[in-house]
Amino acid sequence: MTDRYCVFGNPIGHSKSPAIHAAFAAATGQDLTYEARLAPIDAADGFAAAVQAFVAEGGRGANVTVPFKEDAYRLAGAPGNRLTPRAQLAGAVNTLAFGMDGVPVLGDNTDGVGLVRDLTDFLGVSLAGKRILLLGAGGAARGALGPLLDAGPAELAIANRTVAKAQTLVELVAASHPRAQVSACAFADLAGRRFDVVINATSASLQGEPVPLPAGLYAPGGVAYDMMYGADTPFLAQARQLGAAICTDGLGMLVEQAAEAFALWRGVRPDTAAVRRLLRPA
Ligand code: ATR
Repeated sequence: MTDRYCVFGNPIGHSKSPAIHAAFAAATGQDLTYEARLAPIDAADGFAAAVQAFVAEGGRGANVTVPFKEDAYRLAGAPGNRLTPRAQLAGAVNTLAFGMDGVPVLGDNTDGVGLVRDLTDFLGVSLAGKRILLLGAGGAARGALGPLLDAGPAELAIANRTVAKAQTLVELVAASHPRAQVSACAFADLAGRRFDVVINATSASLQGEPVPLPAGLYAPGGVAYDMMYGADTPFLAQARQLGAAICTDGLGMLVEQAAEAFALWRGVRPDTAAVRRLLRPA
């Protein structure tokens, strides 16, 4: 029987995940279907009910996108289910597997590892020993923390409009990464500081404005990475003005997080280069 997978979101119509997973399945010869499913936002436990219905129809796994990643975290964290350590640290789940290893609902988070893999394997940017600046302290930033620190940077600074939220993230990783150099600051504190890699995890781009960043922020050869996708986000336009050497959006992260989910479900790691070309022809 063909195995069934889906992505839950609201809205979900523009999701690229069905095309990405269909391409992975074709390339690896895996017999599966992958559809987009709209889960309700106006009903209490609407997300959990949507997942239950999909499992009852024979669903084997699902991706989870906005605004359900915290709901998925709660579901996989319920007694009898299981969260991976990286999902626990992220406080959010983007990948669910149903009935794997006898666990009804396993929750994982592949977003952060997708980001790191895009930077290291695809863009050729080694993070070991680098000075990294993470902009934002919401769900997207929290999801990236563990994998970024696992890569062994010299320093990770978290800058946020609300500094207290950045400070909370610093405290969160103190237990999991006790030797890491992690700090919190406001955007105004960045004057005079230099970073090798600057990652935008704020949603400021959605409002069409970049966060205020000072001249001199990017070290020579500096990398600007926007977790949003879109060729010319306000953050990337600003990064070009500030002299960043490599400027990239989050499309590669989207493909890599999908590949990591696919590998969890199917035990096969798909080649992501062909799918990148499919989504963004040269
Ligand atoms: P997500 O899950 O996408 O991370 P979120 O949890 O709502 O969404 O977090 C949004 C992030 O973008 C936060 O860091 C937020 O800053 P605050 O914590 O100060 O609210 C940041 N953000 C949103 N709009 C912004 C703007 N116009 N300028 C700067 N930061 C902004």
